[in-house]
Amino acid sequence: MKQLKQLEAAASFVSNKLKCEPTGHDAAHIDRVRLLAVNIAAQEGGSLFIIEMAAFVHDLIDEKLSNERKLSTHQLKQQLLLWEVDARDIRYIIDIVTTMSFRHRHVQHKPITLEGAIVQDADRLDAIGASGIARVFTYAGAKGEPHYTKDLHEGSVLKHMEEKLLKLKDLMNTHTGKQLADERHKFMCLFIKTWKEECGLTDE
Ligand code: ADP
Ligand code: NI
Repeated sequence: MKQLKQLEAAASFVSNKLKCEPTGHDAAHIDRVRLLAVNIAAQEGGSLFIIEMAAFVHDLIDEKLSNERKLSTHQLKQQLLLWEVDARDIRYIIDIVTTMSFRHRHVQHKPITLEGAIVQDADRLDAIGASGIARVFTYAGAKGEPHYTKDLHEGSVLKHMEEKLLKLKDLMNTHTGKQLADERHKFMCLFIKTWKEECGLTDE
């Protein structure tokens, strides 16, 4: 199979698998990450095939997916083989998707590849800005998590935004990713400020 056909096969497989996914890893998230990654690559370089394929499959092995959507790493490899992706490219792609998650950033033991850096930046960008705000509320709705609480130790949308999402701009790998993250960060700060004012949560 030619690379274009492989990417088309992946796009259709993933959009089918993640249709209506309720925790913010839906097909539209994958679409945005792919587009962001391609735009970053236009400035930063890297293999477009690897970047697009990794963007398409990056959330299929996420622990947060329900059992009928989630693939094991082995199953993902088999799927890539089925699309006739080159064995070396499969290793490269699997390496990207298994090391890029926010949760895994502390256990990363080797330097991230350029393609991995780009897809990770794209994924992190989709967790901030307007899309990021929308996704947090989606996640909270699916998990029954409150918007905010008086007890600051309890999980909430506001806590997640302040403790996790506001840190993402400083974790960007590429120069282009950082520039895009700065814009989204500013927008999110404005949202949080306005939201807290409306809710009577302004810090003294
Ligand atoms: P990744 O794509 O890096 O694996 P996650 O799976 O951690 O990201 O998160 C998916 C989406 O859900 C993100 O938009 C994230 O901000 C949001 N999210 C994750 N954990 C929480 C939480 N405890 N409360 C609200 N939103 C969350
Ligand atoms: Ni993702």
